[in-house]
Amino acid sequence: MSSQQRNILVTSALPYANGAIHLGHLVEYIQTDIWARFQKMRGHRCIYVCADDTHGTPIMLRAEKEGITPEQLIDRVWHEHKRDFDGFHIAFDNYHSTHSEETRFYADTIYTRLQDAGLIEVRAIEQFYDPVKDMFLPDRFIKGECPKCHAKDQYGDNCEACGAAYQPTDLIEPYSAVSGARPVRKTSDHHFFRLSDPRCADFLQRWIATPGHVQTEAANKLNEWLDAGLSDWDISRDAPYFGFEIPGAPGKFYYVWLDAPIGYMGSFRHYCDRHGLDFDAFWKPDAQAEVYHFIGKDILYFHALFWPAELHHAGFRTPSGVFCHGFLTINGTKMSKSRGTFITAESYLRHLDPEWLRYYFAAKLNGTMEDIDLNLEDFAARVNSDLVGKYVNIASRCAGFISKRFGGRLGTVDRSATAEFERAFAEGAIAQSYEARDYGRALREIMRLADLANGHIADKKPWEMARQDGREAELHEVCSTALTLFRDLTLYLKPVLPKLAEQVEAFLNIPPLTWTDVWAPLPAGHAINEYQHLMTRIDPKKIEAMVEENRQSMAPPPEPAPVRHAERQQHEAQAEATSTSPAYIGIDDFSKIDLRVARIAGAEHVEGADKLLKLTLDLGTETRTVFAGIKAAYAPETLVGRLTVMVANLAPRKMKFGLSEGMVLAASDERGGPFLLAPDSGAQPGMRIK
Ligand code: MSP
Ligand code: ZN
Repeated sequence: MSSQQRNILVTSALPYANGAIHLGHLVEYIQTDIWARFQKMRGHRCIYVCADDTHGTPIMLRAEKEGITPEQLIDRVWHEHKRDFDGFHIAFDNYHSTHSEETRFYADTIYTRLQDAGLIEVRAIEQFYDPVKDMFLPDRFIKGECPKCHAKDQYGDNCEACGAAYQPTDLIEPYSAVSGARPVRKTSDHHFFRLSDPRCADFLQRWIATPGHVQTEAANKLNEWLDAGLSDWDISRDAPYFGFEIPGAPGKFYYVWLDAPIGYMGSFRHYCDRHGLDFDAFWKPDAQAEVYHFIGKDILYFHALFWPAELHHAGFRTPSGVFCHGFLTINGTKMSKSRGTFITAESYLRHLDPEWLRYYFAAKLNGTMEDIDLNLEDFAARVNSDLVGKYVNIASRCAGFISKRFGGRLGTVDRSATAEFERAFAEGAIAQSYEARDYGRALREIMRLADLANGHIADKKPWEMARQDGREAELHEVCSTALTLFRDLTLYLKPVLPKLAEQVEAFLNIPPLTWTDVWAPLPAGHAINEYQHLMTRIDPKKIEAMVEENRQSMAPPPEPAPVRHAERQQHEAQAEATSTSPAYIGIDDFSKIDLRVARIAGAEHVEGADKLLKLTLDLGTETRTVFAGIKAAYAPETLVGRLTVMVANLAPRKMKFGLSEGMVLAASDERGGPFLLAPDSGAQPGMRIK
């Protein structure tokens, strides 16, 4: 280490415990993980903590809907999240929960200190209340007609049809999305953090202006907000609420966004208690240690205004930096369930290698708040050309000669060929790029070096040396040199590709690579292990299969094995829940489904499909082909001529066996099925069901 050892605490935003981890989330966890791994390789003490964000109304209602306690729900989701993060090699030093004693402790500490500082005020406010459910309704749980454009069934905060923003009390004909009841207005006491106190604005102005705290683009945004004037922040919610009760205020709970960032402290405290570390050395006002939060641009307000203001006035240190990133788009647009681009971490891992995505995201990340696009074609092309074509190729072309011709031992290294690598190492540009979170720049420089290494091999042509007599020494040197360069490239790529780097360390028979000050070649005589295949190319078919699996549709999946089907519905249900979906749909939602009586005109087996029958459905004016997962329950010949019910406006779906143009409805559960639905006698093909 040239510089002193730093003590660094790093966090990523805490994912909500009511939804599955998806590729958008992973931009952040991968970005943070690369940075934390880089710091560790530099020899610093860097601790990366995170937790599930578990409190709030959506989680309470979802648990209720599933017939379990919120504690059971958050426990299950914690394991799902942990599994997904492990799958992407996100190496948290601690993954905790905001529903923990540590978080409660710091929430109470901060709250009481703010109270002592005169920054908490209790005020009565009037809000919508659901008289059937006996609860106050968050904006997202109130629906009604937009006061501007009169679109029906709009949420209480803004209209999806015309974009207008308003208060829930402005809605025409409001109704509770929880019970459907007409909400009444009711008054209750709320606790406010007095952000309008001049002490807060004064402090925040200075804090934002201090270099390093926030990116320039973020500072501009924050100053706009400051200039507009800060309003007091409502930090309490009435029971019933899943969260922590406020001390001395029975029936009042901390609003989820009050305790969420405190969860960073809670998780770190949990880590400290287990590793004998001094929490205060990181969190006292004049702490030497550094604290960085990685977040998405949607939650900048909470992290760069509310959070530092809370910390400062409660006698804690404030963050050394808040690092904000943009949003993920896929193929240039927002992730979408109907396009199949709302891709869960779990389903990605079923089809593709996590290090491919780590590499691609890293190549796109540059430390700014710009959105980043995952173009699926470019993804495959980039990974295949950089990682397989340039990087892995170096080892795969040279390693065999070392084991077959030189007993697995390296020879001398040609220092004229390594000179540029030595210079790059001494200059430290790659390390600087990682430090600045400009991973794209780091990878461009690494690929430039990979090109040099490949150029050297191409010039020397070891495969020709191997066929010619008397060129053993030259061959030995070219291959040994190439493997030294390969070792260097692996070191540089290790924060991004930690598992691949481990495999390379085993192959080269070297201790875990770290960032030392001195560049040195692999020594002559060093024994390496047999080369094992390191990475395959991305097969675009696997990407297609993944997108297909995520495309939200009510048709049966291509291979509707019972277990897969259940799993799929479960993760779709989870993904759905991220949008705090209420328990009821309106009649408008229902009438979007075009249900029709259909006559089964033909039914046949499908070659190669063990669950499917191919049905020809007569709708009176047209016929449709539908593949239905009912083979186990019906012999095709018994179906012909029967009437049934079909969804006629389901998007056609390309399956392995052909196009499926709708679906038939059937009932089933563990007691049996599927049982096809049938209309009463008199119904005619094509009749609408409503
Ligand atoms: N629970 C809050 C954070 C509390 S932190 C004290 C939350 N959770 S979240 O699950 O919605 O998001 C977690 C992180 O993932 C946030 O930083 C968010 O910006 C990020 N992302 C979620 N979707 C994203 C994309 N589509 N693209 C990039 N990042 C995204 O917010
Ligand atoms: Zn509107």
